[in-house]
Amino acid sequence: MEIAIIGSGYVGLTTGACFAEVGHSVTCVDNNAVKIETLLAGEIPIYEPGLEDLVKKNVAAGRLRFTTSTEEGVAAGKIVFIAVPTPPQPDGSVDLSFIEKVAREVAAVIKDYRVIVDKSTVPVKTGEKVAETIKRYAPEGVEFDVVSNPEFLREGCAVHDLMNPDRIVIGANSDRALALMQKLYEPFVAPVLVTDINSAELIKHAANSFLALKISYINAVSALCERCGADVEKVAEGIGRDSRIGDKFLNAGIGYGGSCFPKDLAAFIAISDQLGVPFNLLKEVQNINAGQLDRFVDVIREALWVFREKRIAVLGLTFKPQTDDVRCSVAIDLIEKLVAEGAEIRAYDPKGMEKAKELSVTSKITLAPSALEAIDGAEALVIATDWPEFAALDFNEVKRRMVAPLIFDGRNLLDPGTMAQLGFTYRGVGRGRCVAGS
Ligand code: UDX
Repeated sequence: MEIAIIGSGYVGLTTGACFAEVGHSVTCVDNNAVKIETLLAGEIPIYEPGLEDLVKKNVAAGRLRFTTSTEEGVAAGKIVFIAVPTPPQPDGSVDLSFIEKVAREVAAVIKDYRVIVDKSTVPVKTGEKVAETIKRYAPEGVEFDVVSNPEFLREGCAVHDLMNPDRIVIGANSDRALALMQKLYEPFVAPVLVTDINSAELIKHAANSFLALKISYINAVSALCERCGADVEKVAEGIGRDSRIGDKFLNAGIGYGGSCFPKDLAAFIAISDQLGVPFNLLKEVQNINAGQLDRFVDVIREALWVFREKRIAVLGLTFKPQTDDVRCSVAIDLIEKLVAEGAEIRAYDPKGMEKAKELSVTSKITLAPSALEAIDGAEALVIATDWPEFAALDFNEVKRRMVAPLIFDGRNLLDPGTMAQLGFTYRGVGRGRCVAGS
């Protein structure tokens, strides 16, 4: 099938490449001419494992093309996806101005029947507003349908998640649109859940908020573990073996970040308030998440007494491993707190260095070319992102380079017993008290 995707960012580009991979003909549109030039030059503006090969292969096969022209995209694609940003507003509600703008642009060029698909994460009842907007600005008599088709991709494994979805959610109020969407997704082996538009929109926010809730739950348990000396990793394993709970998203740490959870949670809370049903449970999820980082900084301060003029090595800048994305990264929040108290930070990240340089806080710290060079002369080592390569460091060399063998593991990446045997004073999250070096 011929499809168009308007918005060629993390979601749009990855979705387009995957649709091309299963045989569809895809036109990716973006109003950022530099981004389109980069893509036309065969370069990928984001780091996403497997994406570069997928894009190059499908461009070469003639199934994937790029343009800045919405008209070209709408003319080419029977199904037109909207995958533009829906950033948060200061009060947590969603800024839908990009969605509204694209709806008007599509309306201006639509000439015959099209299915307009909300792929972006949008508040419930956005589909209705998109339909009203297109109706208002489209030529008289042009037929179209609006569909909600939320994505559930995780950064760092987006290609995998799109090619192997747990489920495909299609919110449609028209059989004609539904038939086209089911044909589009035929090549994917996954259960297709057909709902009304509002339910499909709500599924996205409800899913992300539940995942964030699960993380804050285990993080709240980690605070208890630190008081009673229990090990949150054992508790997580013990509860996760219950198939009704599941072992995923029970990794205690310094909290969730990224461009989705904080935004989607705030949006869901705002929507609930607007609908007159305040979602207080989710407000507590946010509080626990913020408290997790504060408690971790308290633990470091307790050990160092004073941060001023202390050199602290921070490993990890991205909000999670296998991505270059530093948006809403708790690692960056952590560095900002340490810098605010006068610490001298040397930081390293395998993929996030370039994107981190765009952040103001990095002008106040040293970005080291390697983990070991970040560790040189450090009074303490903080692990802020669970990149596997940090666990593979030569900790004898690490100890040699540090002023004192003090490790604060914000992602429980390392084994406390091993660290103690190596002579480190180790503190994780929810792993009981400091494990004094032997
Ligand atoms: C999330 C959802 O997983 C995905 O389905 C949705 O489409 C977009 O938002 P993403 O934000 O890319 O994906 O990353 P995810 O792997 O969910 O991690 C989000 C944050 O939670 C990261 O900061 C991660 O470190 C943290 N996290 C995750 C935990 O602290 N503990 C966990 O057990 C899992």
